[in-house]
Amino acid sequence: MSSDGTGGPASGPTSAHDVIPRPRAVERLPGGDVLLDRHTALYAGPGTDTTERWLRAVLGPALGLPLRPGPRDARDAVRLHVDGTLEPEAYRLSAVAGGGVDIRGGGAAGVFRGAQTLRQLLGPDAFRRAPVRPGAPRGIAPRTVEDAPRFRWRGLLLDVARHFMPKDGVLRYLDLMAAHKLNVLHFHLTDDQGWRIEITRYPRLTGIGSWRPRTKFGHRASPLWDDRPHGGFYTQDDIREIVAYAAERHIAVVPEIDVPGHSQAAVAAYPELGNTDVIDTTALSVWDTWGINPNVLAPTDNTLRFYEGVFEEVLDLFPADATEFSSFSSFVHIGGDECPKDQWRRSPAAQARIEELGLAGEDALQAWFVRHFDTWLAARGRRLIGWDEILEGGLADGAAVSSWRGYAGGIAAARAGHDVVMCPEQQVYLDHRQDGGPDEPVPIGYVRTLEDVYRFEPVPPELTPEEAGRVLGTQANLWTEAMEDTARVDYQAFPRLAAFAEVAWSRLPAPAERDFADFERRMGAHYPRLDALGVAYRPPDGPRPWQRRPGVPGRPLDGPPPGR
Ligand code: ACM
Repeated sequence: MSSDGTGGPASGPTSAHDVIPRPRAVERLPGGDVLLDRHTALYAGPGTDTTERWLRAVLGPALGLPLRPGPRDARDAVRLHVDGTLEPEAYRLSAVAGGGVDIRGGGAAGVFRGAQTLRQLLGPDAFRRAPVRPGAPRGIAPRTVEDAPRFRWRGLLLDVARHFMPKDGVLRYLDLMAAHKLNVLHFHLTDDQGWRIEITRYPRLTGIGSWRPRTKFGHRASPLWDDRPHGGFYTQDDIREIVAYAAERHIAVVPEIDVPGHSQAAVAAYPELGNTDVIDTTALSVWDTWGINPNVLAPTDNTLRFYEGVFEEVLDLFPADATEFSSFSSFVHIGGDECPKDQWRRSPAAQARIEELGLAGEDALQAWFVRHFDTWLAARGRRLIGWDEILEGGLADGAAVSSWRGYAGGIAAARAGHDVVMCPEQQVYLDHRQDGGPDEPVPIGYVRTLEDVYRFEPVPPELTPEEAGRVLGTQANLWTEAMEDTARVDYQAFPRLAAFAEVAWSRLPAPAERDFADFERRMGAHYPRLDALGVAYRPPDGPRPWQRRPGVPGRPLDGPPPGR
């Protein structure tokens, strides 16, 4: 088996060497192209039904392939098998001249990942929804592809709180994730600027908390406002649909309900959740601008009971066994980041709580708050995950950490025996601008180019192998303060999410040794796939005129990033 890149000349619509994320090993086999046409059958072995459905619903219509059911030994066929000798998400694809295509996955997820590779091998038309060249032969050069992921957690955070993404957009992002072999959607559902999930026992969370009359346009220092009301939320059936749609694609959805900070939308809906002895919380509305918000939850029994009620419904909507390939569906993200303590310092009720619990101060009070939900979730068989601030007060055993303020939180968490998802803002916050030029729309933060993301290494070198084993994986985060619609989200996400997917899936060498020129060359085959999917990516030579936002202030940062 030769490694990818040495397997001979390209043939068929796409070379195996153009697959993104890059497979582990590819071997060219002799013979002419393996053709798929209207006679090609589909054999789906036991446990492969998600891929069977996906092939018939997505790949078949794109290329005009009926993929009628066929027997196990059909030669002109795509044959799907679960092969327990492989890892759950690993697969082996073989296309043999005159013998059709076999996809063997370690589990149902592996079969599905293999089908994503098949789609890429079939060329960009395979990413459309209907045939644009009916009857054209679809061939791939004979080969075997052996593949398996480097990391178990290959995540994307969608911030649907700052700007709501209608449900169809979320389903589309699940498709985009699947096409890039990403497997965890971190669903940021609540924040100061909006509450996006229906909670039946607290209807004002969405009745009041899901919309705002106006929105800051640009960075918080911008003088501009968008005076159109902005809002939206997912009904419980919408959420069930999203979770089920993700599960069909072997993607786990981890909901985030942010506490005790980032909660002004909830306080606007239910003023008693806030620090009523410090400010008039009845005067608060859903926040219309950006930044770190002082109006945090009160650390009262009432607040704890209220959020237990929220989480009861959340656990029901996001079942722990939604995905079979991993236990990530059992995670619930409680946020825990950026909780200013000023109101707690001034609140007699918060101070009384500190005294009653014998705590050292407000930071310890936050730790107590987080631990309460850690215990509560653990008692229900679920696992808490939170931003790295949750480490500050000592964390219960099963809790995991999303390391966002650089690598330090993740290193500390791994050394303390906690599982870690590496998503440092200096590397994989895709709201940061991707070029230093003047045409970037609402430029935020550091310049983080496609190459920078390609050279991102999720495992810091200072970890021992055992500590490194605590790194479940990595995640790119799409915060949407400056992304007012799905086209803006696409622009910030792509093409960098393709580079991120390769970092998360493929076994790449150390950052300095990575072959970015080869990645760019493969992107030459990938942009037409993104075009066929209708992704409004940033072209390599800069934004198209309508992708610019002249006059809308961002917050560009110069110089080296903080952090490590
Ligand atoms: C974060 O970016 N505040 C997690």
